[in-house]
Amino acid sequence: MGVVVAIDGPSGAGKSSTSKAIAIRAGWNYLDTGALYRAVTWLALENKIQESAQIILALKNSPIRFESDPENPEVFVGEEQVTHSIRGSSVTENVSRISAMPEIRKELLKLQRGIIDKAHRGIVVEGRDIATVVAPDAALKIFLTADLDSRTVRRESETDDKEIDVRASLDSRDLIDSTRQFSPLVIARDAVEIDSTYLDLNETIDRVWELLRERSLLGLPILAIIGRPNVGKSTLINRFLGRREAIVEDIPGVTRDRVQYECEWGGRRFIVMDTGGWQAKPDGISIQVSAAAEVAMEQADVLAFVVDAQVGALDEDEILVQRLRKTKKPLILIANKVDGEPEESDAHGLWSLGLGEPYFVSALHGRGSGDLLDHIVRELPEVGRAAGTDGFRKVALIGRPNVGKSSLLNALAGENRSLVDDLAGTTRDPVDELIEFGGSTWRFIDTAGLKKRANQASGTDYYASLRTQSALERAEVAVVVLDASEPITEQDLRVITMVEEAGKAMVIVMNKWDLVDEDRRDQLDKEIDRHLDQVEWAQRVNVAAKTGWHRDRLAPALRSALDSWERRVPTATLNSFLGALIGATPPPVRGGKQPKIYYATQAGIAPPKFVVFSNGWIEASYRRFIERRLREEFGFPGTPVHVAIRVKERE
Ligand code: DC
Repeated sequence: MGVVVAIDGPSGAGKSSTSKAIAIRAGWNYLDTGALYRAVTWLALENKIQESAQIILALKNSPIRFESDPENPEVFVGEEQVTHSIRGSSVTENVSRISAMPEIRKELLKLQRGIIDKAHRGIVVEGRDIATVVAPDAALKIFLTADLDSRTVRRESETDDKEIDVRASLDSRDLIDSTRQFSPLVIARDAVEIDSTYLDLNETIDRVWELLRERSLLGLPILAIIGRPNVGKSTLINRFLGRREAIVEDIPGVTRDRVQYECEWGGRRFIVMDTGGWQAKPDGISIQVSAAAEVAMEQADVLAFVVDAQVGALDEDEILVQRLRKTKKPLILIANKVDGEPEESDAHGLWSLGLGEPYFVSALHGRGSGDLLDHIVRELPEVGRAAGTDGFRKVALIGRPNVGKSSLLNALAGENRSLVDDLAGTTRDPVDELIEFGGSTWRFIDTAGLKKRANQASGTDYYASLRTQSALERAEVAVVVLDASEPITEQDLRVITMVEEAGKAMVIVMNKWDLVDEDRRDQLDKEIDRHLDQVEWAQRVNVAAKTGWHRDRLAPALRSALDSWERRVPTATLNSFLGALIGATPPPVRGGKQPKIYYATQAGIAPPKFVVFSNGWIEASYRRFIERRLREEFGFPGTPVHVAIRVKERE
């Protein structure tokens, strides 16, 4: 099963257009579950039957089929194409009644899940109860709304049927959908709500796309590195990665499967697939190596063909070119081992391969590799064939040594500890761990570092801080563990500052609470007042990892921190808040002039970033004041919030 995106919401909020557009852009399937309910209704009307048992029987004879191509979704009942007829007024008037029948919902549930299971790469499913009932494990859940007026306008423009009072019909269907007992229209706890009242279609699509990207749900593109043995493929990959990780060259007699690495260049992430040396007439062990290279050709989005420029193109290279061409995938010719000008002029002979201009590089010395990478990222598709990641929230568990990070990890993992992490297609960092607690699966980043540090209390500070830094970079939320039984230290505060500076959501765990007596508690309160005042917004959870006490408090705290981290305040709401704020407390006068604030906008999320436009310099203290009031007004527990003032000439 691929990535599942659930888009729920009332009629007319823009679910269909958004879902189809996302599915097309990602190369995924699409399922309109409303169309399935409409098809059943059509069948009931056609056969003039009312009872759910009769309808289910009729469905056995004329099963519903949904063609999940988002460019052209089609619905069939038995042999009959009903794509258009299910949009008519008689179906629309009756569909709420039919879809309220529990037996019908149960029947359609099987059908919906069957379609979802068959989507290998991904599917966008729209409906009313997708995130709550049909696909509660969906990697991304969206609840798309809009006010009744704008939904009425949108629906009216879609229908030619002037008979229907669209507004009344929407209103009554909303009511039935949301009050019915079985699968009502409700927002899933972990859904992201998007109000499209003031968004046009493209803005809505962009918003969903951004979420898919943030959660790494879009498959990364794959570049396969292919070539004869010993042309320098692995050296080239080491160059791309900037480290010595890829196995160096083809060791005779050693089978090597397809090895994958994640690279980033110019802000684009992609997977590089290393392959063993391909041979036209393999024998012995090289049979498997060559076969693996061929699998890589199939799995990749773009093929990089590496030739040893010092040797030139051999007959075998020519044969390989034929093979590569057959895949009809973009091909990049890399002339490796070009260490200087003389080699480069010799290497021009490689034009004869008919693959266009070779990229001349020296993988060993780095010559030309930047230009090559520029070209590679230009050739890569936006969404690639690598399986998107799982959508599990990424947590960094950090803190100075001996505060009980490993015990907390164990307490959280309990019996459910899992190291299973072998989804095909993506590079997997083996030091991450998937842990299930509080009703979700979480990806704990770099748990290997955790264990190591726990055992080697002597590990250098510098090393530990580098490791924390890199775990934080990949994480979405940090759990900072403090030892509540001991005074808060400089080092604790440094860790907290790192999280703030990395702009990640944060939860502070006060561990070893079993060792905290009343005296210590008073002391701790004072320390918190004194030292943690800059991160007042971070929720603190008191835990005793050793006994497991309060470990169930962590998941809700993490969820609320992540919610704030990704929260968006609608521009209109933001500006009415700002207007009132400025009215009551205008910015301080400077040089006899009253600075004017025009408006504010939320420039980004994760963490929330606000930009306030003014006509002149605004004191830093006033900026902090805005930030404080923003928090008071809109919450944002668990996340840093950035407020920037931008000076703008009067328009
Ligand atoms: O999205 P639509 O208007 O085509 O949906 C038709 C009806 O089907 C709608 O009134 C509610 C119902 N429906 C449902 O109950 N559950 C779903 N998952 C999808 C649609």
